[in-house]
Amino acid sequence: MTRTPVNVTVTGAAGQIGYALLFRIASGHLLGADVPVNLRLLEIPQGLKAAEGVAMELDDCAFPLLRDITITDQANVAFDGANVALLVGARPRTAGMERGDLLSANGGIFGPQGKAINANAADDIKVLVVGNPANTNALIAQRNAPDVPAERFTAMTRLDHNRAVAQLAKKAGVTVEDVKKVTIWGNHSATQYPDLFHAEISGKAAFDAVGGDQEWVENFFIPKVAKRGAEIIEVRGASSAASAANAAIDHVYTWVNGTPAGDWTSMGIVSDGSYGVPEGLISSFPVTTKDGKFEIVQGLDLSEFDRKRIDASVGELAEERDAVQELGLI
Ligand code: NAD
Ligand code: LMR
Repeated sequence: MTRTPVNVTVTGAAGQIGYALLFRIASGHLLGADVPVNLRLLEIPQGLKAAEGVAMELDDCAFPLLRDITITDQANVAFDGANVALLVGARPRTAGMERGDLLSANGGIFGPQGKAINANAADDIKVLVVGNPANTNALIAQRNAPDVPAERFTAMTRLDHNRAVAQLAKKAGVTVEDVKKVTIWGNHSATQYPDLFHAEISGKAAFDAVGGDQEWVENFFIPKVAKRGAEIIEVRGASSAASAANAAIDHVYTWVNGTPAGDWTSMGIVSDGSYGVPEGLISSFPVTTKDGKFEIVQGLDLSEFDRKRIDASVGELAEERDAVQELGLI
């Protein structure tokens, strides 16, 4: 039986993450090796020519699963019938820009895109926001799409999750598959809390498996993961692109196809008030996924150490929400 193609919209398609992402979507890594896709590429006018060049390269790959490519600078066209939307294009912070300026500039992008999703996307739309500040951009888009169930808007913390898994595997001298139940709590920013205290390595408590070294956790592991984005910018001379694209693929694939038994993942999702995170904020939680839906992992005991760090990151999210509220963006 021939399957109906899934419409996948990617914004910022001509950017560096777009370039690392589109070929993997078209080759079946986003949704599965038997799922045909139509790509809808949204760019600003200045990015259209480069997006056309990327589309030419996609053609040249002769991907069996790629059915159709649309390139546009019109959000209503890009989100028409969208089943999956990856919102990558965002306004980067430039010299002299305050956080309020950045939130305001991105509000001008994610507000209209939320509205266009509300008006045009398919009923089963799933949205992942990658463009920074990802959690608050996702909040802006979600609040501008009142007819779409709030849980369909998510923000990417999977890159942080993958970074934490890799650091733990390295420290314990095991493979990444031996590391389970890592959590990123809070914001995709330097305040995030990468939590190893509920994680397992080869079936044992991760903390014990990395030597029970609290000093290493506080002064190496947590800052290493939370500041990895800045470290990549410093060392590579550009922000992470292939690893960010890989994490976006992982996020959507896991959302659609489920978490493996005995493990969970991290996603920025609309809080239902779990773990004291104010309802409505888009914050990262430990989640399990099944049949295209996710649930927050419940019942984890939080120590004072955990609580303090979660509260700090969630406090930052609340400040960002208040700022975009004051700007009239939500
Ligand atoms: P980039 O500058 O290479 O590409 C961004 C693209 O978006 C450009 O082609 C630009 O023309 C386009 N664009 C800008 N405004 C747009 C709009 N309104 N509609 C459609 N397209 C638009 O940047 P990049 O390296 O690809 O990164 C993209 C974003 O992802 C940045 O905000 C970056 O900070 C963020 N990021 C997030 C994570 C994460 O883990 N959440 C990780 C890495 C990067
Ligand atoms: C990352 O985590 O690599 C990015 O969010 C960094 C950035 O500021 O683009």
